[in-house]
Amino acid sequence: MKEQLEQLKNKVLEEIKKIQDPKLLGNLEKEYLGRKGKLTKILRKIKDVSAELRPVVGKLANEIKKDVSAAFQEAEIKLKTRYQNSSEFFDPTLPGIVPPSGHLHPITQMLERIWEVFRSMNYDLVLGPEIENDYYNFQALNVPPDHPARDMHDTFYLKGARGVKRERGKYGDLLLRTHTSSISQVRTMEKRKPPIRIMATGKCYRRDDDISHTPMFHQFDGIAIDHNITFADLKGTLHYAMRELLEEEVKVRFRISYFPFVEPGAEFDVTCTICGGRGCPTCKGTGWLEMGGCGIIHPNVMKAAKYDSKKWKGFAFGFGVERPAMVKHRISDIRALFENDLRFLNQF
Ligand code: DAH
Repeated sequence: MKEQLEQLKNKVLEEIKKIQDPKLLGNLEKEYLGRKGKLTKILRKIKDVSAELRPVVGKLANEIKKDVSAAFQEAEIKLKTRYQNSSEFFDPTLPGIVPPSGHLHPITQMLERIWEVFRSMNYDLVLGPEIENDYYNFQALNVPPDHPARDMHDTFYLKGARGVKRERGKYGDLLLRTHTSSISQVRTMEKRKPPIRIMATGKCYRRDDDISHTPMFHQFDGIAIDHNITFADLKGTLHYAMRELLEEEVKVRFRISYFPFVEPGAEFDVTCTICGGRGCPTCKGTGWLEMGGCGIIHPNVMKAAKYDSKKWKGFAFGFGVERPAMVKHRISDIRALFENDLRFLNQF
């Protein structure tokens, strides 16, 4: 009987160690210590043991019962503390659970910075429709139908789209706007009298998709119209803005270029922030990064807005928002910005 007791004790202690669930622990306790439990049954048989052995066996049996009960109690406390919910048990010394906090997308951060910089130069923010018509996206900007400049602005047309009322007459077909120039030049000019300084931002769409182009992207356009605006004002404005946005002492250069809505027109570049202008793969060895287009507003655009181009002069410029964000954060693939992968986004 002595061996039987020892064996039973070892077995139950082993089993207690393995149990992870308080409910199962309760069942096990019943199985051994309950009224019909295995240990209880053996204890009941002690009275049948011979009189001389009875005190020794009895003592051992009691000790074993005490040990087993204690093991059950200890295991119960251990499991309960682990499974206890906070309303029953609060340990003020445990470190708190930090709630996950979101932050602005790098594009939104860049947009807000752009607004801040231009607001400090007295520019007023205006928005416009993403579904634009042919007139404001092209014609009013001196890009008539069949003009070759439309090739680079292939977009998504909504001709005959269900639920979209087709605009008629001079406004032409509906399309997803290809730039934000349509908001600043003509749309807003029509509504306001000069002198004006306005900035327009928003999503734009083109039939493009590669490492540096996405079908949807963001643009920023600005115009300033007054009596004596010159190209020098445009240069000074862009130089200041680029330094503020990229937070680096970049140089800005202007290259003669063609945009139908400005004359003269130029593209502007900044010194490559990756290599400091020495030449690297990002700037394709040139030391410069192309940022956008600019120029003096074309008389035909002034005419479309019913401004007297003899009395008023203005400059215009436009650039993508993704590019400065990529340059600033050294992001090599534009598509990463729109994949919504938190492992990427949480770095900014
Ligand atoms: N809208 C042009 C584009 O998306 C960029 C641009 C060029 C904007 C010259 C301007 C400008 O305001 O003056 O390619």
